[in-house]
Amino acid sequence: MSEIDNEQMNKIVALCKRRGIIFQSSEIYGGINGFWDYGPYGAPLRRAVEQLWWKYMVEQRDNVVGLDSTIICHPMVWKASGHLDQFSDLMTDCMDCKRRYRVDQMDDPTTCPNCGSKRLTEPREFNLMMKTFVGPVFDEEHVAWLRAETCQPIFVDFNTIRVATRQKLPFGIAQTGKAFRNEINPRNFTFRSREFMQMEMEFFCHEDESLKWFDYWKDQAWNFYTKILGIPEEKLHIYWHEKLAHYAKQALDIEFLFPFGWGEIQGVHHRGQWDMSRHCEFSKQEQDCKYFDQDRKESYFPTVVESSSGLDRICLMLLCNAYDEDTAATQKEGKDEDVRIVMHLPARVAPVQVAILPLSKKLEEPAEKLYHSVLKKFRAEYDDTGSIGKRYRRQDEIGTPFCVTFDFDTLNDNAVTVRDRDSMTQERIAIDQLAKFLDDKINPEF
Ligand code: GAP
Repeated sequence: MSEIDNEQMNKIVALCKRRGIIFQSSEIYGGINGFWDYGPYGAPLRRAVEQLWWKYMVEQRDNVVGLDSTIICHPMVWKASGHLDQFSDLMTDCMDCKRRYRVDQMDDPTTCPNCGSKRLTEPREFNLMMKTFVGPVFDEEHVAWLRAETCQPIFVDFNTIRVATRQKLPFGIAQTGKAFRNEINPRNFTFRSREFMQMEMEFFCHEDESLKWFDYWKDQAWNFYTKILGIPEEKLHIYWHEKLAHYAKQALDIEFLFPFGWGEIQGVHHRGQWDMSRHCEFSKQEQDCKYFDQDRKESYFPTVVESSSGLDRICLMLLCNAYDEDTAATQKEGKDEDVRIVMHLPARVAPVQVAILPLSKKLEEPAEKLYHSVLKKFRAEYDDTGSIGKRYRRQDEIGTPFCVTFDFDTLNDNAVTVRDRDSMTQERIAIDQLAKFLDDKINPEF
C-alpha cells in the first residue's frame, strides 16, 4: 500500500470546508497561509478533545495540576529557553522560481525540488518566533514574543504552583493553549500551521526516577490515542530519536499514518535539568527553580519529563481516521444504493452526538420538546428539512453517531427509533430510557 494518498486528503479538506468543520482563515481576502478557522462543526470537536485530555491528564490524577498562562511572557523567558538564539530553521531560496525550502527537508540541497535550478541562495537561519511590541512605542526595547510552546510558562511558574498546591516531587503541571511559530512552509492542511494549539504536561521528578517516569508517560500517551480516542494501533508508531539534546536521556515521537504519510502528533521528551537550570541562570531566583527534598535532605533542580501533543494534529488524525465512503440504500430513481460519506468519529468527541429528526413537521412540538431535553446532556441538533435519507447523510458526513427519529407511533408508544451511524441498525427505545441508553454509548468510563 502506498503511504501517500493525496486524493483522500483532498476529499477530507473539501468535506471540512463544505460542512464547516475547518477552513482557511480570512478566506474572503484569499486566506492567510498557515492559519485555520474551526467552524460550527470543528470548534466542538477540538474543544471536546481538549476537555477529554484535560480530564485524563489533570482531573483524574492527584499528581498533576493545571495552569492557564499568558501567551506573551517576559522576553527573558525566551532568551533563557534558548528560543531566541536557537529556534531557527536553515533556509535556502531558489533564485529562479523564488520558492523557499528548509534545507534539512531537501533530498538534494543543491537542486530546487520544484524547477530543478541549481541557483540556490546560501542557506540562512530564520528564527521561528513571532514578534510583537508591548506598549505604545514600537522599538527594540518593547519587543515581545508570542509563545512558541506552552511549556515555558510552566517552568517559570513552577515554584508558585508547587507552594500553592502543596505538591511534593514527583508531580506535573499541565497547560493547553495557543502556540505560534513562523513556519517557513506551512503544509498538509492544519498539520503544520503557524498558529496552533498544544496540550503539554511537564512532570518534575528526581533525576534517578526520570527514566521510569518517561516510560510511564509514554504508555499513558499511547493509551489516550488507542483506548480513549480509538485510533487503531497499526496506524500509530513510536519513533525513537537517535540524536538527543545534550541534556536529554530519551526522546520519542508518536506518529500517525496520515494520507500524506507518517506524521508526528506528540512527543515525549526527557528534558533533564535544562529548563530549570537555565531559568535559574537567567532569573537568578534559585529558590524558585530548585526544590528542597525533605526525604533526601538535599536541594536540586528537578528533572523534567514532558508529554507534548498538538491538538490540531490530533483533530486532523481523528478526521483522517474517521473518513470513510461506503454504500447505503437510496430512494433515488434508478438506484438502489448510493455512495455515503461517513465520519466514524468517536461518539465522545463528535461535534453533534445526537440528531433529533421528526418524520413530519406536524410532530414539531413534541419532537422539539425531546430535543431540548437531549440538549441538556449531549451536543444535539434538530433537523426537520428534507427526506429522512438526506438528513441521515448530512449527519453521517459530520460524524453524528446517533440519529433519533420521532414518528407518529411515538405519540402512542412513547418510544423513538435510534439509528446507529456505523452499523446503520435501528433500535426502538422508550423515551424515558433514551438518556441512559445514549450516555452508556457516548460516555463510557475510562
Ligand atoms: N515543548 C516541546 C515542544 O513544543 P514540539 O515537538 O516542537 O515540542 C510538540 O511540539 C507538538 O506540537 C508536536 O508533536 C505537534 O503535535 C505540535 N506542533 C508543533 N509544531 C506544530 C505546527 N507548526 N502546527 C501544528 N502543530 C504543531
